[in-house]
Amino acid sequence: MKKIIKNGKIITSSDSYEADLLIENGKVVQIGRQLEEAGAQVVDATGKLILPGMIDEHTHIESPFGGTVTAPWKTESVAAAIGGTTTVVDFALQPKGKKLMDGIDRWKQRAEGSSAIDYGFHIGVTDLRDDVIKEIPTIVKEGIPTLKVFMAYKDDLMIDDATMYKTLAAAKDEGALVMVHCENGDLINLLQKQCIENNQTDPFYHAVSRPIEVETEATYRAISIAEIVGAPLFIVHVSGYEPAEVIRAAKAKGLPIYAETCPHYLLLTIDELKKSNFEGGKYVCSPPLREQRHIDALWNALKDGTLEAIGSDHCAFNFKGQKELGKEDFRKIPNGGNGIEHRLTLLHTYGVLEGKLSLNKMVELLSTAPAKVMGLFPEKGTIAVGSDADIVLFDPNKEQTISQTTSHQGLDYDMFEGFKTKGAPTDVFLRGKQIVSNGKFVGQLGDGQFVRRSPFGYCYDTIK
Ligand code: URP
Ligand code: ZN
Ligand code: ZN
Repeated sequence: MKKIIKNGKIITSSDSYEADLLIENGKVVQIGRQLEEAGAQVVDATGKLILPGMIDEHTHIESPFGGTVTAPWKTESVAAAIGGTTTVVDFALQPKGKKLMDGIDRWKQRAEGSSAIDYGFHIGVTDLRDDVIKEIPTIVKEGIPTLKVFMAYKDDLMIDDATMYKTLAAAKDEGALVMVHCENGDLINLLQKQCIENNQTDPFYHAVSRPIEVETEATYRAISIAEIVGAPLFIVHVSGYEPAEVIRAAKAKGLPIYAETCPHYLLLTIDELKKSNFEGGKYVCSPPLREQRHIDALWNALKDGTLEAIGSDHCAFNFKGQKELGKEDFRKIPNGGNGIEHRLTLLHTYGVLEGKLSLNKMVELLSTAPAKVMGLFPEKGTIAVGSDADIVLFDPNKEQTISQTTSHQGLDYDMFEGFKTKGAPTDVFLRGKQIVSNGKFVGQLGDGQFVRRSPFGYCYDTIK
């Protein structure tokens, strides 16, 4: 059925203007003033902003991690939809000893029929054998043009520098983009042992054992290896001033380095980890939360283009039974927090309304830039004739207070508990189908489809 969205204000990463949208067969087919179409359902967007569906390039849904499993597609994809996100790119992991495609197949099986929104996958490389290198062209052809490597999590996911070099070289040949978690896993391992020897077992010591320097060093090393290979690189979850400075310098040199930060690094400080009764465990993520000076630096880095995106790094573990695994030893706390539902409303409240970002910049950071870097543009990440009708109607005046009791994530706590927000999605359309109406989920699990993404460089114009 055709739909016309009328009387709203369209906000893309470059433009803000009043116009109507005609949607047909899941696509935007016309944009103009006072559109009329016989038989079309009219959606009134008076007083609303019309945004492209948000894209979250960094999620871990229903993922085995840290000895347990994160919250599932059936809750997290609905929470994402209600928060205005219509596409996630989730991290699949190569099972050790198996192939990359085995990881992708496992993740696809979990998401298929269970996701309310569209999804793609990155593949986390854990075991780069020669036969695995040969698989890279196939996975790129299958629509998975992003590989992930971890410089942290020693004795689990961590890779060495030679593997990083080989991954970058193989990816470059196929137009794939490597994403990297930058922290020096060897040093963290040593510092963690020192803490435990000194009986420093509380969540706060998670941060003590991961000082900013271990992130800065790994960021510099990853960029240096990418420079030797001549490959582009995407640095995930940048948490502070010094790593951002390293990225800024690399960009100034003309290197094709891309990077994101996450809402929790922009809004929460290391003080959360000091909460008593093990409450600090709720805030254990890697890299750790940091001091205010880092928060200020990250906002500046978003403004000046050092960072191009804000992914949620949604990696949701319950407090009871999951975070509690590390009650006696912070090393056993599964790392990760939430953000899939609140990314847009938090960035509107604490970015746009506090004058740190324009609405256009917010759309760029949360939708357009991730779409471009992740090979989803122009079908997703913008509102244009021919693009998917992934549309968010956003009420800029709706006030809420974030609470676990009203959030839709399958979680028994919320990292952003008590945050007041202004501005919220009211209606969300996924390829033309309404999946959120007046803030309520009205879609179905299974509405989401696997999205085949284009190789890197197809849609990012600054790539050299
Ligand atoms: O603490 C985090 N970030 N957990 C998710 C896994 C990762 O490193 O991205
Ligand atoms: Zn990571
Ligand atoms: Zn992550």
